[in-house]
Amino acid sequence: MDLGIDLAVIGGTGLYQLAELEDVEPHQPVTRYGALSGPVRVGTLDGRRVAFLARHGEGHSVPPHRVNYRANLAALQALGARQVLALNTVGGITERFGPRVLACPDQLIDYTWGRVSTFSEEEGSDLLHIDFGDPYTPALRRRVLDAAAAAGVMLVDGGCYGATQGPRLETRAEIVRLRRDGCDLVGMTGMPEASLARELGLDYACLAIVANWAAGAGPQVDEVITFQHVLDNVAAASSGIPPLLRALLAA
Ligand code: HPA
Repeated sequence: MDLGIDLAVIGGTGLYQLAELEDVEPHQPVTRYGALSGPVRVGTLDGRRVAFLARHGEGHSVPPHRVNYRANLAALQALGARQVLALNTVGGITERFGPRVLACPDQLIDYTWGRVSTFSEEEGSDLLHIDFGDPYTPALRRRVLDAAAAAGVMLVDGGCYGATQGPRLETRAEIVRLRRDGCDLVGMTGMPEASLARELGLDYACLAIVANWAAGAGPQVDEVITFQHVLDNVAAASSGIPPLLRALLAA
């Protein structure tokens, strides 16, 4: 059922709804890949059609390694989405990516394992070797950055997202290694979502919300990261998201 969706937004930890959406209707398409994380809420924002899906479920019950990334993306595509903006809550590793920063990364490194990471899995399905040199769609990234500038929302341009398995947070040694590898941000849900979107031919960009310094990366090296701390910082940083979305949809 093509609902003519202008933009699909996938919300991460601490972002379970888009309160600004109007005339919202829930949709739960059946896909051949099984159940999605929850209903896709389709509504309007300034007259444009927007779909929202909470990646971890609306009650945050689906851990990162159990998210059915294939079903989520296939469902958004079935509803008519062509452009996906992924909101990902992350930890910051390098100086420019402190808590409450919004960033639009341009690279990623995948450290996840054991996740179903391709649509080429089934017997008889096409074997896809997608180009993934630029894991995020450059044109959509550009539009997100321009929208942030137009809306006066601070957004860091670029950065490398390290996708870890979770659900535990990292050790300090793991973060030292990620930094050495060139990662600026660390999160648990960036992959395989980005590559699956590419396999489907969807435009896909990441809006990363820095919730905390990654283990050992901040000024207080032995700081303990609590979930409440993560949620508080996501709530504070999220105020920039609705104006950014409005500018993106208006462009
Ligand atoms: N590590 C991994 N994922 C995260 C973090 C982190 O420090 N903070 C929020 N999501």
